Amino acid sequence: MEQYGRVTDPVSSLRHSRIAGTGRYLPERILSNRELERMVDTTDEWIRTRTGMERRHMAADEQASSDLAIPAARAALEAASCDPAEIDLVVVGTTTPDLVFPNVGCMVQNALGIPPCGAFSCEAACTGWLYALSIADGMIRLGRANKALVVGVETLSRITDWSDRSTCVLFGDGAGAVVLEPSREPGMMGFLLGADGSHVDILRSRAGVSRNPQHFGSGGAAIRMKGSEVFKIAVRTMGGTVDRLLEEHGLDRGGIDWLIPHQANIRIIQAIGKRLNLPDERVILTVQDHGNTGAASIPLALDVAARDGRIQRGQRIMMVSFGGGLTWAAGLMQY
Ligand code: UT7
Repeated sequence: MEQYGRVTDPVSSLRHSRIAGTGRYLPERILSNRELERMVDTTDEWIRTRTGMERRHMAADEQASSDLAIPAARAALEAASCDPAEIDLVVVGTTTPDLVFPNVGCMVQNALGIPPCGAFSCEAACTGWLYALSIADGMIRLGRANKALVVGVETLSRITDWSDRSTCVLFGDGAGAVVLEPSREPGMMGFLLGADGSHVDILRSRAGVSRNPQHFGSGGAAIRMKGSEVFKIAVRTMGGTVDRLLEEHGLDRGGIDWLIPHQANIRIIQAIGKRLNLPDERVILTVQDHGNTGAASIPLALDVAARDGRIQRGQRIMMVSFGGGLTWAAGLMQY
């Protein structure tokens, strides 16, 4: 089972972290399957049955990732009754930062009036937010931070090839955020982070800042994916990762109240839910409304379910993600 990565030190220290509040922001513009039918050779029926998606949000031309991250972070601070002055760490998971630098964490810090503190972004494609959350949890447990803002944000529409029907129907824009605070009880119980850099050809963009920069602005950064190959690895790896984390914590597959998976495809999500013996109503689904929002997908889904009252304090939640890299991660928490 070590093939999936190394499990972080299971609950052993006296200091833990817990989520104090959640927030989200979705841009106003909604792109429906029907509109996509007019853009590429696709159908509403194909998109619904193959992915579960019905609509997704698109950032306005003038909106960059930080413009989505900032209101999501503000909402999380409000939900946590946390003054920005209390935050001493900002970590942002994103694949689509505004600029090469400053990083989105600095932009969030400045906009919200958070005093000088560590602020950075973490890039692990769709897994970026779970990676960021595990970093913030570790910093709090070590006493190197007290209250952290952990944001997942994407403007994937900016790296979408709008003429490629195999990818352009899948992705959306949005941001989700949490405030993490210290606690005597977990809270965050454990994480498993994994990556396998050998699958670069099945999910990637072909141009960036230092590789093929001449093609960066002319579509080279667009997402390229061999969907069915990614699908198979995603199901296997997310399932194995979840099993490994449960095993580490002495829990069986029935020991989870909620599953919050990366919202890439309803069929992948259902396969993981089945593996955990969870009925459909215990799996948080936002893929129909948000599409695949990369690093924002899990914090968005968490905020939806926390605000509509489904997720209650004390319940045990498994979060699991998968994305380009390939990267994957699972996080187990008592909410
Ligand atoms: O978030 C990062 C991780 N990403 C994922 O986990 C995504 C994993 N992959 C998937 O979710 C699925 O593989 C997709 C939704 C991307 C594709 O579904 P699929 O069932 O694996 O379809 P496929 O790629 O095997 O394509 C089946 C057919 C092909 O046509 P032929 O060759 O059978 O004639 C495609 O050309 O569907 C065709 N197709 C489409 N047809 C209508 C591909 N995209 C579309 C489309 N509309 N938008």
